[in-house]
Amino acid sequence: MLAPLYRVTRLELSKPILYIQGRYFSLTFSNNQFKSNREQRKHEQHILSQILRVDHAGEMGADRIYAGQMAVLKDSEYGSVINKMWIQEKEHLKKFNELLPKYKIRPSALLPLWNVAGFVLGAGTALMGKEAAMACTIAVEEVIGQHYDSQLRELLTENPERYKELLEVLQKFRDDELEHMETGYHYDGEKVSIAPFYQVLKSVIQFGCHGAIWLTKKV
Ligand SMILES: [Fe+2]
Ligand SMILES: [Fe+2]
Repeated sequence: MLAPLYRVTRLELSKPILYIQGRYFSLTFSNNQFKSNREQRKHEQHILSQILRVDHAGEMGADRIYAGQMAVLKDSEYGSVINKMWIQEKEHLKKFNELLPKYKIRPSALLPLWNVAGFVLGAGTALMGKEAAMACTIAVEEVIGQHYDSQLRELLTENPERYKELLEVLQKFRDDELEHMETGYHYDGEKVSIAPFYQVLKSVIQFGCHGAIWLTKKV
């Protein structure tokens, strides 16, 4: 009886052997390599999901904050300044709207919440006055700028080549956010008239931003 042309004689994934016409061959791939590749992909997907989901939600929140500020202050002397920042936030959000499907990341389930909270925060601080609106801008943009900075450090440590596209996006947006923060300082965000509650306002807003980031990573 003729031997089969080939057959796998052992199926242990750690070291499969191939039997071909009377000879044994060890297959070249190892299960450890296979496993580590799979784990690496899982690890990368975890990093991408944490970063992109939070950033997408954050940019949507930022878009809503400026929408709220514009609803109150569009006819004030700060209207054009706020509008300029709002336009950039829309560009940021548009980019993450493209990146989420590209990297197969689901958006945060909390988007409706951040949608409302962002608008309320923007409009609420604007109703306190244009300086309070700028104080809000300082508080939010400082947190977002630091947040992008820590993500840049993480991706640079992980694999700069693998995350090249994302690094370029995050670096550009980080610079935009820090420019927004400087705009807040420039347009009286720290003005003496609001000094008594400036620190409280800033602390409360930043506490909320950190909480939102923490929650969005999970949901
Ligand atoms: Fe932004
Ligand atoms: Fe911003």
